[in-house]
Amino acid sequence: MENLKIAIGADHGGVELKKVIIEYLQKKGIETQNFGTDTSESVDYPVIANKVVSAILNKTCAKGILICGTGIGMSISANRHRGIRAVVCSDTTSAKYSRLHNDANILCLGGRIIGTEAAKDIVDVWLSTEFENEERHKNRINLIEKF
Ligand code: RB5
Repeated sequence: MENLKIAIGADHGGVELKKVIIEYLQKKGIETQNFGTDTSESVDYPVIANKVVSAILNKTCAKGILICGTGIGMSISANRHRGIRAVVCSDTTSAKYSRLHNDANILCLGGRIIGTEAAKDIVDVWLSTEFENEERHKNRINLIEKF
């Protein structure tokens, strides 16, 4: 059966939004694997990003969600790894195209940037949109890996 589990992690800037998103996904019957942090104590976002990246690269989870204050630190950290396409989205249109054209496999959110309802909408669109799988998009994704 296809593995649809979502890896999710946050630093202290994203911990509250992470709780909201985990509960939201669980209510929808979407399985999540929580990689912390679970308190407001300061933690280093690259450490959390790395755990979610590993879960995707070793195929324990299909996709990931990373949340920090802005989403930016998480995306920079995650994108250092080959095969990872992490995107910061604060709107549903970017979320949609990041899946359609870029086959993004990690969604980064800013816990201090967007509200919880906007975040839920972004997550919904991102998780329900499939990659378009057209030649031009596949070629461009392959080129990302090449350079
Ligand atoms: C932590 O204060 C903050 O820098 C972090 O959550 C994130 O926004 C970094 O990009």
